[in-house]
Amino acid sequence: MKRIFSGVQPTGNLHLGNYLGAIRNFVGLQEEHDCIYCVVDLHAITVWQDPAELKQNTREVTAAYLAAGINPKASIIFNQSQVPAHAELAWIFNCVARLGWLDRMTQFKDKAGKHKERASAGLYVYPNLMAADILAYQATHVPVGEDQKQHLELARDIAQKFNHDYGVEFFPVIEPLILGSATRVMSLRDGTKKMSKSDASDLSRINMTDDADAIARKLKKATSDPDFLPGPEILDEQGALPDAERKSRPEAFNLMGIYGALAQESWTEVLTRFEGQGFGAFKPALAELAVEKLRPITGEMQRLMDDPGYVDAVLRDGAERARGRSEPILQACYDIVGFLRP
Ligand code: TYM
Repeated sequence: MKRIFSGVQPTGNLHLGNYLGAIRNFVGLQEEHDCIYCVVDLHAITVWQDPAELKQNTREVTAAYLAAGINPKASIIFNQSQVPAHAELAWIFNCVARLGWLDRMTQFKDKAGKHKERASAGLYVYPNLMAADILAYQATHVPVGEDQKQHLELARDIAQKFNHDYGVEFFPVIEPLILGSATRVMSLRDGTKKMSKSDASDLSRINMTDDADAIARKLKKATSDPDFLPGPEILDEQGALPDAERKSRPEAFNLMGIYGALAQESWTEVLTRFEGQGFGAFKPALAELAVEKLRPITGEMQRLMDDPGYVDAVLRDGAERARGRSEPILQACYDIVGFLRP
């Protein structure tokens, strides 16, 4: 049994990329593994969050976890700020990680933009808190979308440096789990940009709170191209889509990738099914499939959002169990570092 940890930020606009790239995979792992799933509210405030919206968005991510099928009794679901070990261990990691490592983080560069000096210090040390999230439970496997890979490599470096500096084998090696065919879902407006919570255009993403009409409308309006869809002969010997093909028609392959992920079909199956057809035929098929697959989840999310008492109770119970797991690990870490606990 592996110990799994992952998290999602409660920053609003939870979308199809979050679901296909991360949350759906969380569900499959809980059958065989010890899983801890966090709503990372401490991470969210590295950029400004309206306090009332932050509370609402924390419940929304929790509702998405539950509606997607995470069982709060088998797994632990909680929000990060209820468990002090995250912030406490992050401080130690602030003293382990090197500035040079943080300087290389592409997400900081993207989020800080041209005015780095105006970004919060929290945004800069964000990867150290991520390492603390995982290592406060000595978790080894972390299911995420492709965009988190660099952060997880840094978390691994932090664990290794800590072990090396203190001469211990305390923190385990972290393995990213980048699973399924939708590890990087792209914007519906621009196939070269990642689908993102912060894109100004709502048409760029399918939100987990969208109703059937909105899902169908956005997919029908999605940017495409005038060509017919290719057949499976463009795939490589392993049945994977070559990068050169993806780059040549980013919007087309993004939409077909979404179809495959939702239908849980391989590239070969999707390309065989739609070979020679145009987007006029493909888009309605995709819209119908997306509505069919997402409606049960978005409907259940809505039901849960109308019952905040239940959602809050799940988080309270999860946090208590998470504190029970992380506190002994934090205390052992403090002892290694040399903090006196008289
Ligand atoms: P966040 O909140 O940006 O995203 C949550 C999860 O969704 C994945 N994801 C995507 N997958 C496919 N296509 C996309 N377009 C897409 N956009 C987002 C992300 O890879 C992620 O798995 N730093 C993390 C949260 C975090 C965390 C952790 C994760 C904090 N501590 C510890 C793992 C372990 C983040 O900002 O995710």
